Amino acid sequence: MVFETVGVVGLGTMGAGIAEVFARAGIRVVGVEADQEALDRGLGHLEASTGRALEKGRLSAGEREEILSRVTLTTSRDDLRDADLVVEAIPEVMEYKVALFTDLDRICKPSAVLATNTSSLQVTALAAATGRPGRVVGMHFFNPAPVMGLVEVVGTVVTEPGVVTSVSDLAVRLGKTPVAVGDRAGFVVNRLLLPYLNHAVTLLDHGVAARDDIDNAMRLGVGLPMGPFSLLDLIGLDTSYEIMGVLFEESRSERHAPSPLLRSYVAAGWLGRKSGRGFYGEPASESTPEKAAASTVRVEGSQELAATLAAAGFKDSAEPDVVLRVGEAALEERAVQVRVTGKVAELSGSVLTSRQAVLCARDLLRVAGYTPVPCRRFVIDALLYAHLNDAVHMYSSGYASIADIDAAMRLGCGYPQGPFELMESIGLAKVRDGLRALYAEHLAPSFAPAPLLDQLVTAGLDAFPRA
Ligand code: CAA
Repeated sequence: MVFETVGVVGLGTMGAGIAEVFARAGIRVVGVEADQEALDRGLGHLEASTGRALEKGRLSAGEREEILSRVTLTTSRDDLRDADLVVEAIPEVMEYKVALFTDLDRICKPSAVLATNTSSLQVTALAAATGRPGRVVGMHFFNPAPVMGLVEVVGTVVTEPGVVTSVSDLAVRLGKTPVAVGDRAGFVVNRLLLPYLNHAVTLLDHGVAARDDIDNAMRLGVGLPMGPFSLLDLIGLDTSYEIMGVLFEESRSERHAPSPLLRSYVAAGWLGRKSGRGFYGEPASESTPEKAAASTVRVEGSQELAATLAAAGFKDSAEPDVVLRVGEAALEERAVQVRVTGKVAELSGSVLTSRQAVLCARDLLRVAGYTPVPCRRFVIDALLYAHLNDAVHMYSSGYASIADIDAAMRLGCGYPQGPFELMESIGLAKVRDGLRALYAEHLAPSFAPAPLLDQLVTAGLDAFPRA
């Protein structure tokens, strides 16, 4: 299959990014929008994105001109008649997509491949709406499309042999890494990513920790490129809510039940970056931050933390302002439990801990160079371990290989390591034991260690089996 002219229908953030990716690879692009206004907006996205690359010196003025000149913009779908491939990136409404695919099937030459960038709808249903179901696939890009290195290529039970391979080869030509996946709700990335993001919303909703603190914990503590709330704002809260709905529809698992807070934000029209307000973007709060001063501190359970605080000038005392405990739960007024992950220090008081002690702990940990994350329960283990456990379940169910899952999360979401690599660097036993502790506390099925993880640890192994 030769792909020299490609159509992109829908030039919103994703569609315009996809058009740019094709044009950058030297492929002619026909970009289609519903009306002139939408077309102008699409052109605006393309000009802004390539303009930024020009400013940063990643493109010369000549290269930028060439890229833009490869893109023809039109409001007529009939202009797609010569396209070898059409990628659809219109709103996630099945009715619109079915109408579009029926139209594309009529307009495009019989050899053309029709692809959808859907993140939540069933590709098989779109294939079935055409007279060429064997040549309909998913081609799922990640936001921002010009930057993220992954394309999920979704084959269905009716896809003709060779089509997934040809589209995967095309993805390589675009400079992306393809991962071939089945037509299952959420494919690989969204099936893992969205339940984790939704979990973060639940923690926020339950008052376990604040938005910025959760984002800091996952960005600075785990090393993810964005915290869950910034990422939800980037993806779009409506898209995220829809994906959760589709996952829940398929699995009926409690883990996939969309958070009511997410639903409320979507209903309020707070959709994230695209609407100017999501989890971020609310008017600044007027309250002045509470402050507390501590000059004496006792650290229990970590010589390293004690040394860091001593080096920062805090003195030990028999009657300290605050007692920081690493380990056992603290049950006294001045005692605050601390867990350090990288430069993040999560801190949590018991029911007996005074507000003053928590504030003191927060401030002195900040002075000592940590990013303090006050929380009612530690958030990093809860969010991360449940997320990693999902990856083990996905692999164990035979849906995707360890290598594909790791590559998908690294390249699709910018993770520094894939979930399996991450579990191996943390230590499988530590992850398994962390999950057991969380399960004992919450009795939520998502915290029950996946049998494979448990078996590997029991067998004394510290790595996952790779082919
Ligand atoms: N368009 C084009 N280029 C962009 C861009 C955009 N919207 N945003 C950033 N870039 C480029 C920048 O120009 C910069 O390039 P250089 O390094 O060559 O100068 C590069 O990307 C890095 O950008 P920044 O330095 O401004 O910012 P950063 O280092 O914080 O990285 C990020 C930004 C790439 C978005 C990074 O934060 C990241 O990887 N985040 C994770 C994003 C993610 O998870 N995406 C997947 C979401 S799920 C999805 O999309 C699927 C779905 O169906 C919902």
